[in-house]
Amino acid sequence: MVATNLIELAIEASQNAYVPYSHFPIGAAVKTADGQVYTGCNIENASFGLTNCGERTAIFKAISDGHRDLIELAVYGQTEQPVSPCGACRQVMAEFFQQDAKITLIAKNGQTVEMTVGELLPYSFTDLT
Ligand code: THU
Repeated sequence: MVATNLIELAIEASQNAYVPYSHFPIGAAVKTADGQVYTGCNIENASFGLTNCGERTAIFKAISDGHRDLIELAVYGQTEQPVSPCGACRQVMAEFFQQDAKITLIAKNGQTVEMTVGELLPYSFTDLT
């Protein structure tokens, strides 16, 4: 998919969320360095711990398609305040984005907050040395 509006794509992606347990749909859209966009949603499981968050679904789709440089991400949740990504997703962001990459968080009323990956997960673990 060629990049258009990440915010709209994240909201749209949440419509595919598989959330029979939480009823809490999340959508995400990630842009690659060469301008492609991958979207994702959360995918739950009766064995709750197997749930995959929307952010990681989008990121893993891009990575599994061969991309390595991700430059921007938008995340939508039906929250009063712009949705706050979980710790696991922040760690995965730190793996594939630069620290200054823009992450747009979106609330159910469309309100947004922009943060960087470094702000979401300061002093992250990024390599083994
Ligand atoms: N969830 C996400 O998709 N992203 C987050 O950053 C936080 C939580 C999902 C997981 C689960 O399907 C539902 O939201 C409730 O935790």
